[in-house]
Amino acid sequence: MNTKISASITAVGGYVPQRILDNATLEKMVDTSDEWIVARTGIKERRILEEGKATSDMAALAIRNLLENSGVKPEEIEVLILATSTPDNVLSPAAPLVCHKAGLVNAWGFDLNAACSGFLYALSVAASLIESGRHKKILLVGADKMSAIVNYEDRNTCVLFGDGAGVVLLEPSHDAGILDNIYHSDGGGVQFLSVPAGGSAEGTGQQTLDDKRHYVQQDGRTVFKNAINGMTSASKELLQKLNLTTDDINWVVPHQANLRIIDSVGHNLGIPKEKIKVNIERYGNTTAATLPLCLWDFHSDFKPGDKILLTAFGAGFTWGSTCIVWGELKNK
Ligand code: ACO
Repeated sequence: MNTKISASITAVGGYVPQRILDNATLEKMVDTSDEWIVARTGIKERRILEEGKATSDMAALAIRNLLENSGVKPEEIEVLILATSTPDNVLSPAAPLVCHKAGLVNAWGFDLNAACSGFLYALSVAASLIESGRHKKILLVGADKMSAIVNYEDRNTCVLFGDGAGVVLLEPSHDAGILDNIYHSDGGGVQFLSVPAGGSAEGTGQQTLDDKRHYVQQDGRTVFKNAINGMTSASKELLQKLNLTTDDINWVVPHQANLRIIDSVGHNLGIPKEKIKVNIERYGNTTAATLPLCLWDFHSDFKPGDKILLTAFGAGFTWGSTCIVWGELKNK
């Protein structure tokens, strides 16, 4: 047995809204086709949260799902980290609201915004809090209501995104846990992917509303190329740092932005498709939620001792890879 304390994922949960927005419906909203969307992105449908509900509602429901399936009590949770780019409000973090809605009466919570890399970055923050011995039960949620910031008149972006929330419980372990990570960020990427208005750089006014600058704007081709390069190089760098080869990796859980990006990264790393987890066809890109939603969807395939490579790329730019050793789950 190892004497070092690692942070291991000991339970998983998730929530996706009931309402499905499929490609046939999008064909009636913008000039697109099911064939184009499936061929260029791999997405068939995505989930859309109902009016009047926010990111904190999905996060709280995902947590409730985890607690019910693992037998962990809400009062046992010490910290909640919420990775999101779509908090309920600009001022006032959403994490305390999530604690309130999920009954986490003893937890302190904060938001972490790193777009599609948010869950990955937060995994290392949570790991540090556990490895230091400071905390023993941390919930890490990735949740985004992308439908709140997507322009459903813009075919370049509206076909890509969906709403959802995933959550993991992290606890100290001597046998399993987070091995290491390689993360990068480049603020030069903001010009290629952002919501330009509504923040401190450019507030919301009639002009920004008329120009639709409170919605996601993306130079898809530039982001596409950077995503493939970033996830490939961070993964190679990490494997080298850990003295592992791709043969040592049992599963890859990649950010779900575009099936062609996932296929290219897998090809560049020389990892067979059977080892790469994909659910983009059902949910689209749920930003910070894609990685925990994949862990939730596919957890029954993972065995204790399996090495899993997680990799993501998102707005910022932000990107990186983390390698974990899967442990025993409390999920029934
Ligand atoms: N339906 C039909 N045609 C379309 C659509 C659509 N929904 N969207 C774009 N097109 C057209 C374009 O207008 C263009 O037409 P043109 O050649 O006449 O100008 C043509 O299709 C090709 O456009 P491209 O942008 O070159 O298409 P591409 O193959 O690159 O696919 C896509 C576009 C899907 C956006 C891709 O570039 C992509 O996935 N980019 C990366 C997205 C990503 O990873 N984002 C990061 C994470 S998001 C976050 O952090 C919040």
